[in-house]
This record gives sequence, C-alpha cells and structure tokens, in this order.
Amino acid sequence: MKNILITGGAGYIGSHTAVALTKSGFEPIIIDNFSNSERSVLKGLKKILGRDVKLYEGDCNDRDLVGKIFSENQISGVIHFAASKAVGESTQIPLTYYANNIGSLLVILGVMQEHGVKNLVFSSSCTVYGQPDELPVLESTPRKEAESPYGNTKKICEDILHDYIKSKASARIISLRYFNPVGAHPSSEIGELPLGVPANLIPFVTQTAVGIREKLTVFGDDYDTKDGTCVRDYIHVLDLADAHVKSLEYLENQSDCFIDTFNVGTGQGNTILEVINTFEKVSERKLNYQIGPRRGGDIEKVWANTDKVNKVLGWSAQYNLEDSLRDSWNWQKRLSGIE
Ligand SMILES: NC(=O)c1ccc[n+]([C@@H]2O[C@H](COP(=O)([O-])OP(=O)(O)OC[C@H]3O[C@@H](n4cnc5c(N)ncnc54)[C@H](O)[C@@H]3O)[C@@H](O)[C@H]2O)c1
Repeated sequence: MKNILITGGAGYIGSHTAVALTKSGFEPIIIDNFSNSERSVLKGLKKILGRDVKLYEGDCNDRDLVGKIFSENQISGVIHFAASKAVGESTQIPLTYYANNIGSLLVILGVMQEHGVKNLVFSSSCTVYGQPDELPVLESTPRKEAESPYGNTKKICEDILHDYIKSKASARIISLRYFNPVGAHPSSEIGELPLGVPANLIPFVTQTAVGIREKLTVFGDDYDTKDGTCVRDYIHVLDLADAHVKSLEYLENQSDCFIDTFNVGTGQGNTILEVINTFEKVSERKLNYQIGPRRGGDIEKVWANTDKVNKVLGWSAQYNLEDSLRDSWNWQKRLSGIE
C-alpha cells in the first residue's frame, strides 16, 4: 500500500481525506500538532476504518520530525493541509500566519526533495480570487489582491510551488482551490470541530440550532444577489476528500516538473438565506437569526466553474446542499448528545 503523509490530518478536511484514501487503497499517515483539532478525531477515524491511523504528533515546521517521518516510512505522496485558517485572526496575528502557512510548506518541500518524494497536493482556496470580475470563476481567472494575511499566504504558497516547478524540480504538484467545505461523515464519527466561536457559517448555524449560540447574524442583505445576501459554493467535505484521491492518482501518471490547479466546488452558488432555509427544512427547526450590517472584507459572490476538474481529474460533486446540511446537522446532534 502506498503511504500518503497527511499534514493537518486530524483537521476537518484532513480527517475525511484519511477515510477516502484508505477506501481507495492508500495508507494515510498523519502529522498534526492539534493546534486546531482534538485527539478524539483519531478515535472517530478508528471507528470508521476499524483500525488505527498512524499519527505523529508535532509541528510541520519541525524539520527534524518531518525528516524522521520520511525516514521511518516509505512515503509516496503528501497532502499538505496543515495551516492556520481563520481569516479574522490572520489580520490580528499576521506574522504567526505567514510563519506557519509558508514555513510549513517550505519544510515539506525541502524534506520531500531530500527523500526523492515527488507527489504533492496542496490546499489552496477560492479566497485567492477575491471578488472575481467574471462568474463562475475559472482557474485562469486572474487572482486578486488578497483581502487578508490568510488569503495572502495561500497566494504566496501557490507562487512558491510555481517557482519551484520552474526551477525544473523533480516534483509533481496539484493545488486544489477549495470553495466552501461543509457536511460531515455520514457516520457522524468525524466532522467540523471548531474550537471556540466558529468562524464559518455552517457550524455557527448548527450551534445556534442547538442553543450553544443565541442568534446567527447574517452580515448584509443589500448585496447584488437574488435575495441580497452573499453567495458561496458549498461543497460536501466527502466530495472534497475524494478530489484529493483523484489528484494523487492523476499525479502518479504525470512526468516530473508538473504543476496544475483545480477548482473544487459544486459549480452552484447559494445565498446565505438559501442555506438557512435549506437547513430549517432538513433539521425541521426554526433558526434564530437576524440581518445585520455588512461585514468588512466579505466577498459578494463567488462560485466555481468546475469544467476543468470534471474533465481532467474525472471528479464531480456527488452531494447537494441538502445532503451537506443534513450531515452537518447530524454531526452537531451527535456532538450535543441529541437523539
Ligand atoms: N475549511 C475551509 O473553509 C477551507 C477553505 C479553503 C481552504 N482551506 C484550507 O484547507 C486546509 C485544511 O483546512 P481545515 O478546514 O481542515 O482546517 P483545520 O484547522 O480543521 O485543519 C488543519 C489541521 O492542521 C493542524 N495544523 C495547523 N498547523 C500545523 C502545523 N504547523 N503542524 C502540524 N499541524 C498543524 C491543525 O491542528 C488542524 O488539525 C487548510 O490549509 C486551509 O487553509 C480550508
């Protein structure tokens, strides 16, 4: 079996990807420092997979530790999820974000090079597009100036990967630009586990529905969209996980000095109010929400053109918004001990 190192593998997307990889015959190995996840994730993975996933607890910026992982295991590819990801926080502690997100990529690339490991899938984000001039957004759509240090780290990391390949490096790289990941594993053994007040919409919605948060505020209903609220492309985390498996399989058949970028979304945009209505339908609960003023830095609307990823990787989203919200809701109920 091929060993795949998953950095940040105890996190939301990483843990679901560990499941998808195992189901496709890969052997995941996780490195995580638990800066934004909990050790209980490993128990959830064990319940789903029926066995333990190998874990190295530590930091991806620790070159000795990362080197040790490559020496102890024959690694055939890396998926680099580990990063700090809260947009708001990144404006307060930008140096921490630059150090963690860029530093860890440099360590991973350096150690991969040392050990002759070629295949890398990198977690990028639709945040690199800012507010695009054309919609749906294509991979070739010019990137805009980043709205936050977090967004800038993703742009810089993409640039580093391109410069690395331009240097004729013996590597094959895919950057996946995720749109808005939602949902949870249908077993409710793993899901999104935000520490503290959620920065993302869906955990805020589900936490409000169970009373952990009093009220959800929708930031602005005067945007140029069908109901005035912002539009995003919500992609089920199971679909997203599968895109990583497809990426690794694709990389195995490429020659050296390869790099490409793919949007990973459904190709559908939904407004915040549509999300709330769909959530109320699947959960059969009324959500306590209010409309507030716009929030600085929010993009009005963005959703993906997925033609390239559909065609080249043979991947397309299998789940819709209802499926995603149902799984998020079941996960929240499990966390809150309901039913
Ligand atoms: N969730 C989203 O909305 C979203 C959207 C676009 C892109 N992304 C990117 O996808 C990746 C995964 O996101 P996620 O939602 O699973 O986040 P997450 O915070 O749940 O997972 C990241 C994991 O990495 C770990 N980590 C962070 N820095 C580390 C380090 N230096 N060494 C070891 N472990 C470290 C954290 O403890 C956490 O378990 C990130 O790179 C993120 O920027 C996420």
